[in-house]
Amino acid sequence: MTDVTDGVLHTLFQSEQGGHEQVVLCQDRASGLKAVIAIHSTALGPALGGTRFYPYATEEEAVADALNLSRGMSYKNAMAGLDHGGGKAVIIGDPEQIKTEELLLAYGRFVASLGGRYVTACDVGTYVADMDVVARENRWTTGRSPENGGAGDSSVLTAFGVFQGMRASAQFAWGDPSLRGRKVGVAGVGKVGHYLVEHLVEDGAEVLVTDVREESVRRITEKFPQVTVVADTDTLIRTEGLDVYAPCALGGALNDDTVPVLTAKIVCGAANNQLAHPGVEKDVADRGIVYAPDYVVNAGGVIQVADELHGFDFERCKAKASKIFDTTLAIFARAKTDGIPPAAAADRIAEQRMAEARRA
Ligand SMILES: NC(=O)c1ccc[n+]([C@@H]2O[C@H](COP(=O)([O-])OP(=O)(O)OC[C@H]3O[C@@H](n4cnc5c(N)ncnc54)[C@H](O)[C@@H]3O)[C@@H](O)[C@H]2O)c1
Repeated sequence: MTDVTDGVLHTLFQSEQGGHEQVVLCQDRASGLKAVIAIHSTALGPALGGTRFYPYATEEEAVADALNLSRGMSYKNAMAGLDHGGGKAVIIGDPEQIKTEELLLAYGRFVASLGGRYVTACDVGTYVADMDVVARENRWTTGRSPENGGAGDSSVLTAFGVFQGMRASAQFAWGDPSLRGRKVGVAGVGKVGHYLVEHLVEDGAEVLVTDVREESVRRITEKFPQVTVVADTDTLIRTEGLDVYAPCALGGALNDDTVPVLTAKIVCGAANNQLAHPGVEKDVADRGIVYAPDYVVNAGGVIQVADELHGFDFERCKAKASKIFDTTLAIFARAKTDGIPPAAAADRIAEQRMAEARRA
């Protein structure tokens, strides 16, 4: 056995971060499919989480990512109040090069083989059209197109949920949930950031945006000429008088370089994995900055795909996503009582919910 395999098995069976229920290695030589499906927990119900299609440098890296991401989904689903555990799948390879109908169908048969213990959806490198293909082989695929019984684009409700989290943060920081007159900086105005800006403008906020893609900036300024465009994220986070910073691009927004120079009082955005490393959440709290945990406020998308299993209803989903307001406030309250940062408080509440479900 290699050292690397040893490492993965150690994570799985012995480490604090492990504790996964099941990990399935999938191979279909005919189509070139190599995938890993990781089920972290089914304590709250069938494991739910997307399929990432990515050119991992090594197979061990793919397994490690599946283990990490599926664990994160357990926490996210628990905090979203869903009756779902956490799971995630990764398909190894460059989707531009190897994604074919045959490969997606083979993957769909592996999802079928789990008999509903794992429910899949889109993630980086997979799209609604791909899920339509995967769904031809099983009943446990969400993120499909409306023509195929799905809910389509999840960014509308993700943005709505982030906005609710931001209102709760404003309530906690300033005693008023309104963003009217507040200076809010959105870094990344892609699918989610674009809809978030719409909510902010409607609420009367003064919005600043930045994006590395000219096309994203052009779309936003055409629709909302009143927003101010700044050169880059570094300029945005140092802007004097900034009230809220909303990271809506990539992960790692809160790190050793950015935290000391942030001018905002609140950080609340859609991006996954905003905390660059363990311990940053404490640095953020020590500076008196209110951080709304990413996986709590960006759960609108997973709330939407979970609903697909019951026949998608937009208003029912929106009502569920509205609860992100109360959940975020509950996390801040717990953080205060326990004397810990909000990210740690969110983890505690999620772990409690999973432990109670296991006992029941
Ligand atoms: N789409 C969803 O439903 C959903 C759900 C949960 C979490 N998220 C997370 O939210 C984030 C945004 O998702 P999306 O669907 O809007 O993606 P997207 O690709 O549509 O938009 C991301 C935008 O960020 C920009 N960007 C990339 N690097 C940047 C940088 N360094 N500085 C400024 N802008 C940069 C891109 O040009 C793009 O316009 C991601 O982290 C994603 O994982 C999305």
